[in-house]
Amino acid sequence: MFATRLTRDYGLEFPFVSAGMGFIALPELVAAVSNAGGLGLLGVGPAPPPVMQEMIRKIKQLTSRPFGVDLIHENTSFGPATTDAHIDACIAEGVKLVVFFWNLPPAGWVKRLRESGARVWYQGGSIAKAKEAAGMGISAIIAQGSEAGGHNKSELGLFALLPAMRDTLPNLPLIAAGGIADGRSAAAALALGADGVCVGTRLLAAKEANIHGDYQARVLKAESDDVVRTCIFGPEWPDQPMLVLRNRVVEEWAGRDDKTPAQPSPAVQIGRTDLFGHPYPMPKFSAALPTPETTGDFEEMCLAAGRGVGLVREVKPAAEIVREMMLDAAAKLREPGGDTQREMAERRTA
Ligand SMILES: Cc1cc2nc3c(=O)[nH]c(=O)nc-3n(C[C@H](O)[C@H](O)[C@H](O)COP(=O)(O)O)c2cc1C
Repeated sequence: MFATRLTRDYGLEFPFVSAGMGFIALPELVAAVSNAGGLGLLGVGPAPPPVMQEMIRKIKQLTSRPFGVDLIHENTSFGPATTDAHIDACIAEGVKLVVFFWNLPPAGWVKRLRESGARVWYQGGSIAKAKEAAGMGISAIIAQGSEAGGHNKSELGLFALLPAMRDTLPNLPLIAAGGIADGRSAAAALALGADGVCVGTRLLAAKEANIHGDYQARVLKAESDDVVRTCIFGPEWPDQPMLVLRNRVVEEWAGRDDKTPAQPSPAVQIGRTDLFGHPYPMPKFSAALPTPETTGDFEEMCLAAGRGVGLVREVKPAAEIVREMMLDAAAKLREPGGDTQREMAERRTA
């Protein structure tokens, strides 16, 4: 139905990529998206290599369709989020797609992954970084607009970022991320020159998402202007801009939120969660996203979500979300005047 360069190169039915959301996009969600004809990305987040490797094996049990592994390249308070051992494990498991988020990966990792037969993508929100990535042999860019949920340093909304990136890098596959939460927004991104869409926030309301029910209920209720950009979260990874849902702690720190505040003394614990099989007492301002095991005060927690949240109203199986969004996008692109835009988008990506 959608013959873009992404579907052709990766053997997909739909140009739909699910975001590699740490804590949330675990094997069940990845496999559900891939089995539905999209491309699921595993959110490795801060998972150590053996845990990541187990998750990759689980995905391979659940699907024989293409999937990818999303790694954050950055130093955190726990040390580097991605290490040589993560790359070794991806190669050992024969992973065919690795996506790096936040910083560009070292050239050595790109080389090793490519030599193993994997493709490497980069997710970023600036034209300069995209150009640099293209020069390193990256196979595609996820263009992250400033609407996108979670960690986000993009200054540009997708409507400005995407066509500019397309013009700068006419031959590189581009996947649009940020605020794409229904068929209309997916159609708009494809018409603007994207080869596919990358969806996070809409999938927070997927049945297979590894998300706490309270967090998910807030996502379903929120309007788009309940989303705030703040740096208050993250003793685990300080001073990083994130898009999150407004709650008490976000309101309290509004206007003083350009940095992660110092930990209070005496220490304050806002809840408990489980991190890769280990209990984790959540410090004040913790950036750990609430998963089903989390307990504590949700008014103090980091509830990452993007500006498309106002379009998310129902929990559904991921396969239904993928199909609905893609069939609706196809219909929109076929509406009067739409054919021409779709043809243009496909010509650009052929
Ligand atoms: C809850 C949440 C967690 C996220 N965690 C990550 C992550 O660990 N790694 C990553 O590459 N991107 C992460 N992202 C960003 C997504 O990759 C993507 O840019 C974003 O979800 C797209 O915009 P949307 O949320 O409006 O659909 C996260 C997004 C959300 C909403």
